Amino acid sequence: MGVEKIVVLGTGGTIAGLAAPAADSRVYVAAQKPVAELVTGLAAPSGFELLSEQVAQIDSKDMDLAVWQKLLQRCVHWLAQADVRGLVITHGTDTLEETAFLLQTVLAPRKPVVLTCAMRPADAADADGPQNLRDALVVAATAGAQGVLAVCAGRIFGAQDVQKVHSSRLDAFSAGEAGDVGRVHQGHVDRQRDWPQPREPQEMLLEVLLRASALPRVEIVLSHAAACGATVDMLVDPAAAARFGVPPVRGLVLAGTGGGTVHHELEAALRRAQAGGVRVLRSTRCNDGFLQPRPKDEFPVAAGLSAVKARLALMLELLH
Ligand code: SIN
Repeated sequence: MGVEKIVVLGTGGTIAGLAAPAADSRVYVAAQKPVAELVTGLAAPSGFELLSEQVAQIDSKDMDLAVWQKLLQRCVHWLAQADVRGLVITHGTDTLEETAFLLQTVLAPRKPVVLTCAMRPADAADADGPQNLRDALVVAATAGAQGVLAVCAGRIFGAQDVQKVHSSRLDAFSAGEAGDVGRVHQGHVDRQRDWPQPREPQEMLLEVLLRASALPRVEIVLSHAAACGATVDMLVDPAAAARFGVPPVRGLVLAGTGGGTVHHELEAALRRAQAGGVRVLRSTRCNDGFLQPRPKDEFPVAAGLSAVKARLALMLELLH
């Protein structure tokens, strides 16, 4: 085996963003700078060679099935190469947690796949992307590192727990009560928890996902004061779906109040939806804390998952 490689896959985001000419760095366009330029001049971790590949160039708010399919294909390709130690994926912060969760659920790799990002564009005088990218490379090169991880502002998170919790701070992510996997400090990793556990690859799921032309439709319903049950009735009405030319809803994720409770109007509507064959999962709109299944739970709990991750989990289950 020749020199070990770390492959950096570019998907866009603010880390590849450029400020509009003469504007301050808060006014910029994401996904402009090619990944090959992001890695130019970066020193590879000692003993490694860096490769890069542009998989997509998008603002991650626009993430879709086609980009996920391409990213999965390229991850599978590179992870299978004996001389590749790990992957780094540059990604927008906005849906980073969804991509991380998808990759961990489908691939659960024995090698590290490290997503990284930035809160300031690449050409800002105080850009945070280069340091985040250097830290991600350090994690990918660390002996024993495995699974899908996210690195931002010197912190390492597991894919299951990572969540964007701040709209503007550089330290924009948290793993909540699960805690960080560790920190990167001056080129070294201080680990606080186990790496995400590898699993046998979900080959069937991967195949179905790569062939899919659409994901099963699953929507998120937020419970709040003065909620209206008709919102759910309209969402699951097949005639409404047909009118808009979209597939009917197959699942609903409830982002409930507090411990996953739900306004009584929504509860009645969710019960009607479930009786009509729509899968309903319960999560919470709180950032922190774990939902406990309750005896005689009408709506099963999406244990340990935020609403967006519960939605993805349900879509993958329905696809499978
Ligand atoms: C994006 O998610 O692509 C834009 C925002 C960001 O990266 O912070």
